[in-house]
Amino acid sequence: MLSKKQAKAFFLGGTVLFFLIFMGMSFDSLTKGIPENTHADKITKEVKLGKLLWEKSNCMGCHTLMGEGAYYAPELTRVFTRKGPDYIRTVLNAKNGGWGPNGRKMKEYSFTEEEVNGIIAFFEWVDKINLNGFPPEPSLDK
Ligand code: HEC
Repeated sequence: MLSKKQAKAFFLGGTVLFFLIFMGMSFDSLTKGIPENTHADKITKEVKLGKLLWEKSNCMGCHTLMGEGAYYAPELTRVFTRKGPDYIRTVLNAKNGGWGPNGRKMKEYSFTEEEVNGIIAFFEWVDKINLNGFPPEPSLDK
């Protein structure tokens, strides 16, 4: 069994060691990991406009992005690859508030062309973020 002194040293040593590892990993994430995985250099003015509109328009009240948001409407993290810019443009300009299955409707917006381009640019940027395999490909195994 450890003596009191040994236990104290074990506790302090462990705390300091893991604190240093934690700080090292945080530093690595902030200086390398996040900018690289999000390719922050590609955040253009258009992407920023799209992000702003995403927040202001409460898209998250129905959709999720990176799994965050509401589960009423489709997950949109990879929508740029899944559906492409023309489809997204059509949905955003739809006059009757969309045509979802099961009677689910998208809110009707009146975005300008510049705003629609911004939202598409934002989806394109999100689409390229490295999320370590999220969202997973659906398994088609029976
Ligand atoms: C009131 C709920 C609601 C809100 C708010 C909403 N949507 Fe939707 N959205 C839907 C529904 C429902 C669909 C249709 C799903 C379908 O057709 O499969 C949809 C479809 C979409 C699609 C096509 C997705 C796909 O995979 O086919 C995109 C892109 C989209 N919305 C973007 C947005 C953006 C951007 C905003 C905010 C500006 C927004 N939505 C706000 C409900 C909503």
